[in-house]
Amino acid sequence: MEIAMFHRHSANEREKSTDEPRHQIRVNGVLRDVTKIDPRTPLAPYLHFMLLLHGTKTMCFESSCGSCAVVLEYDDPVKPGKRIVKSVNSCLYPIGALLSLKNHQLLTIEALGSLKKGLHPIQKRLADYNGSQCGFCSPGFVMQMFGLLKNSPTPSVQEVEDNFDGNICRCTGYRPILDAMKSFAKDSDARLKGSLIDIEDLMICPKTKRPCGQTSCPGPGQGSGILLYDDFGIKWYQPESLDQLYDIIQKNLREHTKLVNGDTTKGIYKGSQYFKILIDVKGIHDLHKVTMGPTGLKVSSNVTLSSLIDYLKEYSDQSPSYDIIACHLLKIGNVQVRNIAGWAGNLMMKWYYREFNSEILVIFEAAGAKLTIGYKGGKKICTPLQFLDINMKGKVLLDVEIPKLKENEMMNSYKVMPQTQNSQSYVCAAFRVQLKPWFGIKSVESISMIYGGISDNFIHASNTEKYLQGKDITSDETLQGALAILAKEVIPDDSDPLVARAEYRQSLALGLFYKFFLFLLGERYVSPYNRSAIYSLNRPISSGKQTFSSKPEDYPLTEPMPKLGAYKQTTGELLYINDIFPRHNELFSAFCLSKVGNATISHIDISVAERWFGAVKVILAKDIPGSNTFMPPPFEVEEILSSGPVLYAGQPIALCIGVSQHFALEMVEEIKVTYKDEKPPIVTLDDAIEQKSFYPLSGKELVVGDPEDAISESLHQIEGEVRAGEQYHFHMETQICRCVPTEDGLDVQASCQWLDLAQQAVAGACGIPATDVNVKANHLGGGFGAKVTRANLVACGAALAAHLLNRPAQCIMDLATNMKAIGKRHGYIFKYKVGFNDDGTLNGVIITYYCDNGSSANDNEVSAFFAFSDNAYKCENWKLIPVALKTNRAAHTWCRSPGSVPNIFVIETILEHVAKFLNLDPIAVKEKNLYCQGDITPLGFNLPYCSIRDLYTTQLQEVNVAERLQAINKFNADNRWKKKGLAVVPLKYSLDWTEGFYLCTVSIFGSDGSVMITHGGVEIGQGINTKVAQVCAYVLGIPVDLISVKATTTTTSPNSGTTGRSITSELNCLGVKNCCEILKKRMDPVKNILPPGTPWKDLVAACFKAKVNLTGQYWVSCDPSNVGVPQYNSYGVTVAEAELDVLTGENQINQVDILFDCGESLNPSIDIGQIEGAFVMGMGYWLMEKMIYDLKTGEVLNAGTLDYKPPFSKSIPIKFNIELLKNAPNPMGVLRSKASSEPPQCMSCATLFAVKHAIEAARQDVWNDSYFPLSGPAIVDEIQTKCLVDYKNFSI
Ligand SMILES: Cc1cc2nc3c(=O)[nH]c(=O)nc-3n(C[C@H](O)[C@H](O)[C@H](O)COP(=O)(O)OP(=O)(O)OC[C@H]3O[C@@H](n4cnc5c(N)ncnc54)[C@H](O)[C@@H]3O)c2cc1C
Ligand code: FES
Ligand code: FES
Repeated sequence: MEIAMFHRHSANEREKSTDEPRHQIRVNGVLRDVTKIDPRTPLAPYLHFMLLLHGTKTMCFESSCGSCAVVLEYDDPVKPGKRIVKSVNSCLYPIGALLSLKNHQLLTIEALGSLKKGLHPIQKRLADYNGSQCGFCSPGFVMQMFGLLKNSPTPSVQEVEDNFDGNICRCTGYRPILDAMKSFAKDSDARLKGSLIDIEDLMICPKTKRPCGQTSCPGPGQGSGILLYDDFGIKWYQPESLDQLYDIIQKNLREHTKLVNGDTTKGIYKGSQYFKILIDVKGIHDLHKVTMGPTGLKVSSNVTLSSLIDYLKEYSDQSPSYDIIACHLLKIGNVQVRNIAGWAGNLMMKWYYREFNSEILVIFEAAGAKLTIGYKGGKKICTPLQFLDINMKGKVLLDVEIPKLKENEMMNSYKVMPQTQNSQSYVCAAFRVQLKPWFGIKSVESISMIYGGISDNFIHASNTEKYLQGKDITSDETLQGALAILAKEVIPDDSDPLVARAEYRQSLALGLFYKFFLFLLGERYVSPYNRSAIYSLNRPISSGKQTFSSKPEDYPLTEPMPKLGAYKQTTGELLYINDIFPRHNELFSAFCLSKVGNATISHIDISVAERWFGAVKVILAKDIPGSNTFMPPPFEVEEILSSGPVLYAGQPIALCIGVSQHFALEMVEEIKVTYKDEKPPIVTLDDAIEQKSFYPLSGKELVVGDPEDAISESLHQIEGEVRAGEQYHFHMETQICRCVPTEDGLDVQASCQWLDLAQQAVAGACGIPATDVNVKANHLGGGFGAKVTRANLVACGAALAAHLLNRPAQCIMDLATNMKAIGKRHGYIFKYKVGFNDDGTLNGVIITYYCDNGSSANDNEVSAFFAFSDNAYKCENWKLIPVALKTNRAAHTWCRSPGSVPNIFVIETILEHVAKFLNLDPIAVKEKNLYCQGDITPLGFNLPYCSIRDLYTTQLQEVNVAERLQAINKFNADNRWKKKGLAVVPLKYSLDWTEGFYLCTVSIFGSDGSVMITHGGVEIGQGINTKVAQVCAYVLGIPVDLISVKATTTTTSPNSGTTGRSITSELNCLGVKNCCEILKKRMDPVKNILPPGTPWKDLVAACFKAKVNLTGQYWVSCDPSNVGVPQYNSYGVTVAEAELDVLTGENQINQVDILFDCGESLNPSIDIGQIEGAFVMGMGYWLMEKMIYDLKTGEVLNAGTLDYKPPFSKSIPIKFNIELLKNAPNPMGVLRSKASSEPPQCMSCATLFAVKHAIEAARQDVWNDSYFPLSGPAIVDEIQTKCLVDYKNFSI
């Protein structure tokens, strides 16, 4: 991204080429001269482009995904002789900031181990525990763990679990990663049998290439002097004393100046400002002091949040508030951010941007902290609140003194956020009170009530504070009086669509005060029924059980072996497209996106962009030599670059090509577009329905029986509506493609799931024959459907740049562009009408599926998945009406389990609604309606092997549903403010193979008997390469390590179909099996004349000599007469249990038990990984991930990790148990197996229903037990609102 820096400085480089090195950093033991590098350059691109260290990955550039984690060690500036060793995210941290860290050393994944040098135990265990799928996140997790072990070689499991709040994995569902990491813990479960290690002994020294016991190599790695850089249009200072700092500030008072400590704020306020003067303050000794004095703990401004937390814990015996403040700070950002960020930068951010919800300001103000502000010639002491009104020009925050609590003083703090990790709060609050106990009463001497997240200026609830003074808190009257005043003064600002609704934030503010009020009283005064308000949800250490059977006699088939290539992933040696070093002359490109949603382009001014430093060309629609569409015929046109009409905000308008990604992105900012014919875009699904904005070919209605009659003649009828939102795929490798012109045409390295389509698109756009386009996809850093058709956009972008300029070119979407330009999982509104009997038996179901397709219906799914509409339930009369909505949003596209996830959700909603209407147990109502063997589905297919009834009853018994429900009922009756719920979701998942077509080739090398496979699927993390290798080894009777699976290309597997719909692995296994059988047949005559037991290598040599063709090829294709006919059905049952904090809406999934029929799993480790990953991705969809659009333009507003939250490691079920059905060979599958990667996701809505049952329990307490719909995503604020919390019901 920031390669620009290296290009921009090239002129200076020449001038200074004879200079002695002055500024050095140490990376993996080696000193590197960075004198001529722009000090603002973040570490990640420096490592990548300058040092060619490709193990460190990047995705978000917001310090929020952890894929770029490295470890930094340096001399502790506070405690001489001690070293600080911390993980940090390298995507933001500037090179220049290393220079002030004494004896620093930066360690990257390359320093740990490699396939050649030997693996570091963390790398090995992560792979062995199946903790990597696409592998993109793996180096980040390894480094994050390494950072922990360097500090605490024998951590506790709790420390391990707490360590990953800044690392995202979209594939695995985290359980295997956590298991791998917990195997290093001193108190880990015996099942996680890894031995403890001596981390120091086991690091490979990058210099000597031998195990290394040093914490650092000797010798300095730092810069010298005060003005380190006067170049690149900036000055970079590194003062050593406060006097020097003040002098620099004074000298530059007119300039735009920034003090650099952790430099993390640019993760939040990106590129908002250009600073000419940068002053790294970390070298100033006086800003690193920590003293525990009689009045409190004084901490200087350079002390990082992590260190501050450590000091607060160290001195926790001095004041009970210190632990509370430490806990509060632990919820800020993530480990990597806290490891470098300081409290001063956080406060300054609040100072600059009043809307910033500074949780540090809240806790400091509540604690009664005093800030010291320094300036040339003086100092000033103030409260955090006063600080906000001080003119900070020329001033510096020096230290904070956090006082000890006085006698009878109490304090607590609360932070309620969309996720339990790495999220900024909806509302945070901290309270400190001095009480005067007096014969059974507790009167308030003074109180401080501080809030964040309400509005720019609301900090103290001053009126309530005043009211409470002198009041006795043991009375309900005081409580209600305070709440009434608080309700009047907490008026949340409702202008920012990215912030939760004002109504919720107000309710939360009142609820948090209530929590504190009860906390003050303590259990003795609070009724047992209300006590649950006091405590936050308790999340114990998570665990998981995986149960499966395998057949050792068939190994490697059915063997739970780790993925091939897993070690390469965990060592960071696996190269994704972005890791390939650019060729000489390679170009980079970035799309300029429309800012409006429904208009015609009037003019595009590219003059400034084309003259920009590093610019090469701007491509517009008129420059495209072939067809301006990235969807080749017969698909409807979707323009690569708009030729005039703008269909959505986020649509590509121009492609900027520069000599670096950084310049290409800068060019984008310089393009000026004017529009005409602007019309209000259709942004919401409701608007589309109201305006009848429908695609004409929505799909075919399905009518079975006479549903209208069946419903009207039923004893009971209901109607309802429920919704399911969009989901961003969140593949960790964003959309990317790289093209190289060759004498053979264009070599296209694509991160795509459908090579054949990409080939057609590129050929069409460039106006060249398909045979001139050689597409290759090696392994993707995740796809989840987003790279089936949408990857063509970047493929065409890169190809056009390469073709038009005849230079290698790449097209990478940064996260924001990816989230704005590319569509998501389709969003839905479902309307239904149902008729049923007294016992809940369904008689007739009518569902209208309003499915948002966005600006193109190319990937329309609405009628294509009616096979899932019944899920596992029988009904004689159905009417399923598809309506494809046309909105001004990016065209939505396939996303893991497309169609099936929403279709199953709506029928589950209907069954839950029926049960509530009849006041029956939904578990029983569902059971009543389950299919039996031999039943016929609405699509007319027989279910000869249907086992769902058996599975259902078995699973309910196995996981003790009846007893647990009793316990839950008791818990709910005893607790007003915490509720639990349990839900069961069965599954019938229909798998049809009819759209699969793949070319598979198996070649045996005559020279040594090794075997090469090429197939038509793409390794996207699902383990296809491992499975085909297992099948090949099994059929040929050879060890897996003789087999190599090569990258998929259009040269070796032309005309192959898409990788998706769960069928790719098994169909390519089928293809490889058939290839092997062809080969065996050819080899048999030779084998038969050789002595029994002839080694494989000799057999192959003999065959080669006998001129046997040692390449077998098989074209897997469907029987066209069978379109839509299921090959088989998968069955499963999921039981989910949730717990809810009624006052806040925070929730956790206490337990999930999945029983899944995977046939005879080809590889249980991989299949369980798929199940866990799919399920957690589904949990994200139902409970966490919400897309937010600008209602005026339709632009995606939460295009980044700060506001869009996929599940983190503590979002997963606390107990996560997976069982693969035993002894379940599938006669209709490949080698008796069944698919695993999508079906389990369809059961993830069980978590939403479990939460819904908990909400129902809360509503029963306020006498509202009627049915209510719960749409997805049911995020924290929606959930709390549904609980009907009213402060007037708060009591002691
Ligand atoms: C991913 C992520 C998640 C986050 N989550 C949260 C969260 O949940 N809650 C929350 O409250 N915050 C959150 N933050 C904000 C975070 O706390 C701040 O970015 C951090 O504390 C800033 O410290 P820094 O040392 O990096 O500041 P820098 O970025 O180095 O500096 C920030 C600003 O402060 C000025 N400055 C620095 N030191 C001084 C000084 N001594 N005197 C005067 N001015 C100074 C600088 O000039 C600059 O303008 C998050 C940030 C990130 C990146
Ligand atoms: S790329 Fe650095 S944290 Fe995401
Ligand atoms: S394996 Fe973690 S993101 Fe793919």
